This record gives sequence, structure tokens and C-alpha cells, in this order.
Amino acid sequence: MKIAIVGLGYVGLPLSLQFARSGLTVLGLDIDPAKVEALNNGRSYIKHVEASSIASLVQGGGFSASTDFRRICEVEAVIICVPTPLNKNREPDISYIVETGKAIAPHLQKGTLVVLESTTYPGTTDEDLLKVLEAGSGLKAGADFHLAFSPEREDPGNPDSKVASIPKVVGGFTPACLEKAVALYGRAIKTIVPVSSCRVAEAAKLLENTFRGVNIALVNELKVVYAAMGIDVWEVIAAARTKPFGFMPFYPGPGLGGHCIPIDPFYLTWKAREYGQNTRFIELAGEINTAMPEYVVHRVADALNSQRKAVNGSQVLLVGLAYKPNVDDDRESPSYVLLDLLTARGAKVSYYDPYVPVIRPSREHSHWAGTRSVSWNRETFEQPDVVLIATHHASVNYQDLANWSKLIVDTRNAMSAVKTAPGQVWKA
Ligand SMILES: NC(=O)c1ccc[n+]([C@@H]2O[C@H](COP(=O)([O-])OP(=O)(O)OC[C@H]3O[C@@H](n4cnc5c(N)ncnc54)[C@H](O)[C@@H]3O)[C@@H](O)[C@H]2O)c1
Repeated sequence: MKIAIVGLGYVGLPLSLQFARSGLTVLGLDIDPAKVEALNNGRSYIKHVEASSIASLVQGGGFSASTDFRRICEVEAVIICVPTPLNKNREPDISYIVETGKAIAPHLQKGTLVVLESTTYPGTTDEDLLKVLEAGSGLKAGADFHLAFSPEREDPGNPDSKVASIPKVVGGFTPACLEKAVALYGRAIKTIVPVSSCRVAEAAKLLENTFRGVNIALVNELKVVYAAMGIDVWEVIAAARTKPFGFMPFYPGPGLGGHCIPIDPFYLTWKAREYGQNTRFIELAGEINTAMPEYVVHRVADALNSQRKAVNGSQVLLVGLAYKPNVDDDRESPSYVLLDLLTARGAKVSYYDPYVPVIRPSREHSHWAGTRSVSWNRETFEQPDVVLIATHHASVNYQDLANWSKLIVDTRNAMSAVKTAPGQVWKA
């Protein structure tokens, strides 16, 4: 069986490799010629995807990449994994899905299965994507071609998270569409969870991500409340998590990051308005989580103040630019908000991140593009007035950090197991 996967990013690339490993022939399609060239030459551009596995699948003929969407006519199924960001007004931007639909529609053959994986609001597959595919192909969904939605569940940076073993929710436009999609995913993934419609599958993904966003907001709020009471929220969570039922730990931080949790719930908020519904939990969680960088900057100011220093004119070295530990993904990272807020207050900022040696150009923080990570040594860490831990990569030696840096603000409890001097570490 030959399939195409459109969008070879954090989601599409590991999925392509999993299907290829399972014996399918996979054509990866992307609009970025640099990615296509890298893959066809057996190179990886994602830290946790090994170049050797790409190279062996390319050599074996199971996987190849292209920018030529006319080749959609060669395949029995198309899986779409393109970005779904928010626009400037924090409204869903499904233009990548629509553009992909337009690009593949003219080449769609009768009987082909099209599956959307991008996280989005209920109705995207059977309204928006359906319309573009039908208009561009002259074919009818459910009669001439099959249509389904199956949300991606990636856990980047978690070595135990393997595409094949994460259960896959699938919803079809018709029962026959569902059957086709279940059969396709069943070839590469162990557990398939069929649901009654594309909309249920879309809504399930939004529930999963909203659940995280809301619970992170809860612990972020408790962090601030407990800190005012002189109670360490980290110790509280460690105690609470010993409860063997009815509790699941979430951890506070400097704010939300990544391509999913800060964004996806607002897809639902936007769609809910069409039905006259409000998503109050989502709005409140968003408010609390987006206020976190401000709180952290206040703590930096307090820490500096304890040394008779002001933020203005101080050197601040931020550790961890990626939005979560052990990944190179800096999309939506609150570290950028921290750098911006501190700079606005007159601090001289720099950063250290072994996985982001240089800041790449992007839509959101182009003003930092080209800035390089400082190197890891005593001299670099002795100098700044304060070191701010925004992300706790496991490869960082926190004991060295404690030995080298005079003042540390820790948003991740990274210094908890390390020997430090009284007043040296400020939790935030
Ligand atoms: N990254 C995650 O952990 C994760 C987890 C679950 C769900 N998702 C969802 O999966 C979707 C993709 O996310 P991602 O992290 O893989 O994004 P990404 O930015 O890493 O990758 C998207 C890829 O699509 C390509 N692309 C953009 N427009 C295209 C077009 N018109 N045609 C073909 N290719 C195009 C880009 O060049 C890029 O390679 C999003 O909806 C996201 O919310 C992501």
C-alpha cells in the first residue's frame, strides 16, 4: 500500500517513519524544499528523530520525500499533518489545512482516503476540508472518496512515547470512511479507538489539551497563593501525588509553551461562539497561564532587590529556551516572553540552551533571530547578576550551576536536589 503524508514536521515525520517501518510505501510531501532535501539524503532536522532510521528507510525504498503534490494520484491514502496556529487576534488559522486541501484536490483519485490529523475545532474536517476537496476534485466525500479525522498524540522528549504504542482515536465522515481509516492505522498502530464522527474525534483532542491547560493553570495559581503563605507548591504536589486514586500531578512553570496547549483550546473557544456558548474554564486558564511570565519577572526583581540591585542594568542569563525539557522545540516558548519583559525593564539578557544553539527566524520572535546561546562554563555563569531557569533540560549540571552562579531564580524546581547557599535560589 502506498500513502502520502503531508507536512513533515514534529507530527508528520515520526508518523511517516512508523508507517514505512510497518511495510507501507510512504511519500512525504512538504512545501519546504530544505526539509525534503534533508530527508532524501537521510538527514534529520528534529532532535529526537534519528537520521539513521530515516536513511535506512529511504535506502530501502519505504520512504521518500517530495514537494510535488501531483504525486497524490499515486497513493491510496493521504494524511494531513500541517500547522494550525492562531492568528494575531488569537483566532484559528486553518489556512494551512485549506491550502493543503487545494493542493491535493485536483490529483485525488476515486476511492482515496483523506485523513486530517492537525488539531482543530469540531467541524473542520466535514465542513471546511470537505468543501475544498470536493470543489477542487469534482468528487463527493463519502461516495467517491473517504474522509476521516484522527488526532495526533505526540509526546516529544519522552523516550517511552512511541507512535506505534499510543492509542489512536479515529472518526469517519461515514461508516465506510471510518472502516477505511481504522484499517489504515491498524497497519502501523497497535490500538485504534473508533468514534462515531470526525467531530467527536476533533473534540476529543481538544478535551485532552484543554485538560492539560486548565490543570497547569490550577497549579500555577496555587504556586502564587501558596508562595504568599510561605508554602512550597512543589512539596505540596509531591505529597498529594502519593494519593493512589483520583489525583494526577501537574507542575507549575513560567507559562505555557509549544504548538498545542497554549493554542488549541482557543480553537474551541472560537467555534463555541458560533453556538452562543462560552468556554469560561479555557479563558480563565489562559488568563492565569499568560500572567505567569509577569510573575516570574517580579520574582527576578525581588531576587535582585535582595542583593541591592535593580532589574534595570542587571545581566540576566536565561537557562532553557525550548518550551519543555529535553527538546529543541522553542515554538510559543514563554522564555521569549521572559526575555522581552526583562529587556523592556532594562535588563541585559542572554540565554543558554544546548538544543537551541542559535535562534531561528520565526513569525513570533523574529527580533531574537540570530542570537546565540552562551557556552557552558564557569566564566559565563559567574558573570550575570542572576540566572533564570525557565526550562530544566536533564543534560544541564545543576550542581555546577549552583557552584558558579551567585543568584538563581528557578521556575522548575530544578535546584531542589542540589546543594545551594541560603538565599541563593528563589523559586518562581
Ligand atoms: N508537535 C506536537 O507535539 C503535536 C502534538 C499533537 C498534535 N499536533 C498538531 O499537529 C499539527 C502539526 O504540528 P507539527 O508540530 O507537526 O507542526 P510543524 O510545524 O512541526 O510541521 C508542519 C509541517 O507542515 C509543513 N507545511 C506547512 N504548510 C504546508 C502545506 N500547505 N503543504 C504541505 N506542507 C506544509 C511545514 O513546512 C512543516 O514541515 C498541528 O495541528 C498541531 O497542533 C502537534
